[in-house]
Amino acid sequence: MIVCGIETSCDETAIALWSDEGLLGEALYSQIKQHRPYGGVVPEIAARDHLRILPECWQEVCRQTGVSIQDIDSFAYTAGPGLVGCLLTGQSFAQGLSIASGKSLQAIHHLEGHLMSVVIGEPDWHDTLKQLPPFLGCLFSGGHCMILAVSEWGKYEVIGSTCDDAIGEAFDKVAKMMGLAYPGGPELAKLAVSGQVVYDLPRPMIHSGDAMMSFSGLKTACRQVWLKSSKSDQVKADLAASFQAACVDVCVRKIKYAVDKTGIDRAVISGGVSANRLLRQSLSELSSQYGYNMVYPSLKYCTDNGAMIALAGWWRHKSGNMLSISDVRSRWPLASLGI
Ligand code: KG4
Ligand code: ZN
Repeated sequence: MIVCGIETSCDETAIALWSDEGLLGEALYSQIKQHRPYGGVVPEIAARDHLRILPECWQEVCRQTGVSIQDIDSFAYTAGPGLVGCLLTGQSFAQGLSIASGKSLQAIHHLEGHLMSVVIGEPDWHDTLKQLPPFLGCLFSGGHCMILAVSEWGKYEVIGSTCDDAIGEAFDKVAKMMGLAYPGGPELAKLAVSGQVVYDLPRPMIHSGDAMMSFSGLKTACRQVWLKSSKSDQVKADLAASFQAACVDVCVRKIKYAVDKTGIDRAVISGGVSANRLLRQSLSELSSQYGYNMVYPSLKYCTDNGAMIALAGWWRHKSGNMLSISDVRSRWPLASLGI
């Protein structure tokens, strides 16, 4: 069985093919260059670029794998959450392929894709995928920030989430304030390596006694430090290091809380921010201290990609749980999915 996955929820255009043997091939095009002059994603530019690039990605993936439209059993596309104009391009492209081939069309939840991304590239991906639940799903990205209890694939209960900004969004905004190029998260993390944690920034909601998070006040605290500073390269590096340390402290504490509350001591950390080295290092210290098991995607699959959508489509097709919805959704609670 072969499933084609199409991802267009934000600023990456991606198509991948997943078979019973694993990932067959993928094409990924990042729109970073188009959005960089604006310091963030411009939804209309993103949607138009998806339309322009999707046919090229499709041809590229067919050329790479030797697979043709008739060999594919199902066309899976990201139906949400994401930018509506962007989601519509992926949905329309998938619909076209499904109608042309007479094969099934299925909607995929972007965040289910991120959770499954941890097995991409693993030789035993199939067994690992089956054996992962129950686990805590920690989604730390530019648009999402939550901790879920996953009793089995398809069953998601939110344990905690951000009250305001997503963690990646806060990284991007603080980076932008310091004049770093979009997307600022990875740039800020790079800069932090040469800085010291010298600024005493707040750890919002760290003592709230739940898994709720907040990053907006931390962002404002950074702004106050920045405005009063000399804005030198050293200030930039130190502020980057201090901000990153505060974010990571919050994530570590909230994951510890979620483990204590649920008794589930395996956590899947995914989404763009799961690429952050300090986060991985701090979580590995937490794991060795308490005997937890932390699972991450390989660095290539932390950010948006088509392989995770193709894999989620493969799993839903294989287990008889394909989702079919007619609309696309900017917001789509993961807990409403079911199996
Ligand atoms: O998962 P993703 O590609 O898109 C969303 O679904 O949001 O995540 C992108 C986010 C951006 O905010 C980016 O700045 C952040 O992940 N990010 C990082 C790092 N790499 C990517 N944040 C902190 N440290 C990193 N190394
Ligand atoms: Zn994402």
